[in-house]
Amino acid sequence: MRIPFVAGNWKMNPPTIAEAAALASDTASAVGGIAGATRVVCPPSAALQAVARALEGSPVEVGAQNMHHEAKGAFTGELAASMLTGLCSCVILGHSERRQLFGETDDFVNAKVRAALAAGLTPILCVGETLDERDAGGAEEVVRRRLAAGLDGVGTGDAVGVVIAYEPVWAIGTGRAATPEIAQEMAAVARGQVAALFGSAAADEVRVLYGGSVSPGNAASIAAQPDVDGALVGGASLAAGDFAAITQAFASA
Ligand code: PGA
Repeated sequence: MRIPFVAGNWKMNPPTIAEAAALASDTASAVGGIAGATRVVCPPSAALQAVARALEGSPVEVGAQNMHHEAKGAFTGELAASMLTGLCSCVILGHSERRQLFGETDDFVNAKVRAALAAGLTPILCVGETLDERDAGGAEEVVRRRLAAGLDGVGTGDAVGVVIAYEPVWAIGTGRAATPEIAQEMAAVARGQVAALFGSAAADEVRVLYGGSVSPGNAASIAAQPDVDGALVGGASLAAGDFAAITQAFASA
């Protein structure tokens, strides 16, 4: 039995730390009572401390949106895992916005995954194809390749604790979510790759999320898919009620 996992990726929102703390409190009120799902919010790094404080005593966990793999040093603008461990339980790694807008490579993402695991953080490892890659028939190959690269050098015991997010780039922020059939098919591809890399027991245990324009309207049909264990939610996580409706859909699937 895989426990559903629903994470809100707030990206560079809301604009102030005070608003982030208020959104965290609203989210805790809205999803705190939804048992049977891991619930996570991932605010901007500057708001991590205020959000962690606002969520004290709540079952809602905190995640970061990125980190660097080095322990310390001359890396202007970056955060080390040890700076996150007191504030967060999870960290999003390899989001397509990091890959596309900030040039993150599979090797860089892999170094971060390993550093996060070594620090006791749960990586939410994002993989997904662009529209061009899908149109060229390469979607499955992209997901397999990014997972093999992202999980390179990770032991089986650690791999089962990684949360994989299948996020097709064409569905992110577009309002055009993948169909439930595509979400299922690609989550199964991701799980199959975990089986190939780490064995079928690991594949049975690992949680695979879908992300890309998840909304209260489409959450139930996506949650009904057998290989989709949760969601990484962008825009809809900025409204506590919408995030709660999505969380409820996965918790009761
Ligand atoms: P979206 O973003 O739900 O706004 O499409 C998802 C994500 O980028 O994780």
